[in-house]
Amino acid sequence: MNKSKTSSKDQRIVVSKNGPYLVYGGVPLRIQEIVPDKDGMSWDWKTGKTFETEDKYSLCRCGKSKKKPFCDGSHEQTGFDGEETASRAPFARQAENIDGPTLVLSDAKKLCANARFCDPGGKIWSLIEQTDDPEARALVIREAMHCPAGRLVLHDKKTRKEIEDPLEPSIGIVEDPAIGCSGPLRVQGGIPIESADGKRYETRNRVTICRCGASDNMPFCNGSHASMKFNDGFIK
Ligand code: SF4
Ligand code: FES
Repeated sequence: MNKSKTSSKDQRIVVSKNGPYLVYGGVPLRIQEIVPDKDGMSWDWKTGKTFETEDKYSLCRCGKSKKKPFCDGSHEQTGFDGEETASRAPFARQAENIDGPTLVLSDAKKLCANARFCDPGGKIWSLIEQTDDPEARALVIREAMHCPAGRLVLHDKKTRKEIEDPLEPSIGIVEDPAIGCSGPLRVQGGIPIESADGKRYETRNRVTICRCGASDNMPFCNGSHASMKFNDGFIK
């Protein structure tokens, strides 16, 4: 249970220099597990334990805290280099557009968090070519909306409108039992993310930020947690 009153206008995440994420505004924090389908492909999200937090809290981003997901100061002992290397350009300038018959898929590869929701049905990049079929179209929309990283964004070809589900502002502690590792922080609902130099990244509905310490696109996750088998101790 969250002790504080959530006041969405004060909510923000500040990336501290070579240190933790400072979270303001009582953002709800919970475990979010990737659930596979019968073929072992990522299919759904399951929400687990909600952490008790104050209005302000700090989340580990070096991967070494013994009090994960919270910071315990370990970054100071380990000499963590958390330099922010990600582009400050808006998503639209980082993405490549792929035209399907009824949808346009915008894809910014660098933001991939390796959550694999884009795999079922023969992968979203081939499904996009079949979006004149209502079933394929629905699957493409489902897959993009489940992509936690916001690497994949859809527009309706006719109306040019972005297709995006409204999401409640929250932070998810991602667990990925199918590949035996813990994942990034899943930031939903347009919570502003502020760099250590005070500038803001583009505020988006879906992004994932690194908490294993190994991304080379800091502060965003680049899927490195999977190769290093990052384990926060919550994985079942
Ligand atoms: S993060 Fe998005 S793009 Fe990357 S594997 Fe998952 S669903 Fe696909
Ligand atoms: S949590 Fe994904 S790269 Fe660090």
